[in-house]
Amino acid sequence: MKMTAAVMYEQGLPTPYANSGPFRIEEVDLEGPGEGEVLVEVRGAGLCHSDLSQVAGLRKRTLPVVGGHEGAGIVREVGKGVTQFKEGDHVVMTLVAGCGCCNFCVEQRPVLCNGVTASRSQGLLANSARRLSRNGQPIYHYSGVSSFAQYAVTLPGSLIKADPRVPLDVAAMFGCAVLTGAGSVFNAAQVRPGQRVAVIGLGGVGLNAVMAARISGASEIIGIDINESKFALAKELGCTHTLSATAPDLVEQARALTNGGVDFAFEVTGHKNAMQSAIALTRKGGQVICVGLGAFGDMYQYDHASLVSEEKVLRGSLMGSCIPERDLPRYLKFFQDGKMPVDKLKSGTMGFDELNHNLDLLDRGEVVRQILLP
Ligand code: APR
Ligand code: ZN
Ligand code: ZN
Repeated sequence: MKMTAAVMYEQGLPTPYANSGPFRIEEVDLEGPGEGEVLVEVRGAGLCHSDLSQVAGLRKRTLPVVGGHEGAGIVREVGKGVTQFKEGDHVVMTLVAGCGCCNFCVEQRPVLCNGVTASRSQGLLANSARRLSRNGQPIYHYSGVSSFAQYAVTLPGSLIKADPRVPLDVAAMFGCAVLTGAGSVFNAAQVRPGQRVAVIGLGGVGLNAVMAARISGASEIIGIDINESKFALAKELGCTHTLSATAPDLVEQARALTNGGVDFAFEVTGHKNAMQSAIALTRKGGQVICVGLGAFGDMYQYDHASLVSEEKVLRGSLMGSCIPERDLPRYLKFFQDGKMPVDKLKSGTMGFDELNHNLDLLDRGEVVRQILLP
């Protein structure tokens, strides 16, 4: 079938993206669904900071590629052998989909899956198929999702059923922002009632960590950002305090609010100075949960003797250390019960023609989550 999609041909184009146009809006060909595949009509796709990192070229991709790694939609057709889904099902699309049989999947850690990592870097679905092309030339899949398109062919493992009562433009945020932010709190940190946390970086991912910390019963939730315009929403979603990341006495202020430091600091920007703050404002014996992704190969510095003598833990958490089929139904229920008002993260919606401009808005921190309505 023919469909409209946002295709990236080149990484590392200059800002402003509204001028350089990393995404070209084009008519492309979509084949399938083949055996074991599912055709989804995309009804919402979130624009995430990781999309900015891809556009900037921090992590290389097989090009050209249809962008988008979080989304939601409606199943329109299932390939031979697909029994988990049927036409009309509402689904969340997620980039975490383990092969089910490697060491890591067997250990219930699909974010570390070996098989899927390989197919991802080649721009293929996990069954090694490619269903996208244009004028007979290959176009590649992005993280098995490619949701910046009217339709997507995916594997069942990349889809989680959602209650049709959850609006699809809200459901779109669950596949990355919610899984990552909430999972860093529930799965990686396992915050307990009365513990104290700080979240550095109050974007789409960080604010989900804030909501999860509130559900976990954290007594202090300190939101930290360089952009103070993020503070009002952060307080509404659960922050008990907000601090400017640029305050010279940031660490002292955070320590004063928490009687010597937080049990968990969530670093959700990927920036080196934010990592330094996260380590410094963590109490002895506390943990720094590293969620933000910088460029591969970047080196960070810390005071090793303090880490040892204060028994601090640095812990990476990819995609909320999630198991999507276990976690997403829980988070969708939290939303439906009003405990996790993910809809408040939606800054607005956009059409294809506004996608490049919205990269600039996200880059400048003027929006939290913009949702593409293809
Ligand atoms: N200190 C504190 N806050 C910062 C800093 C800093 N040095 N640099 C940026 N920020 C803030 C921004 O002002 C913004 O509010 O971090 C927030 C980042 O939010 P988004 O751009 O919406 O990013 P998000 O989609 O939440 O992703 C955050 O997680 O998945 C990873 O790759 C992703 O590294 C990214 C991070
Ligand atoms: Zn993302
Ligand atoms: Zn695996």
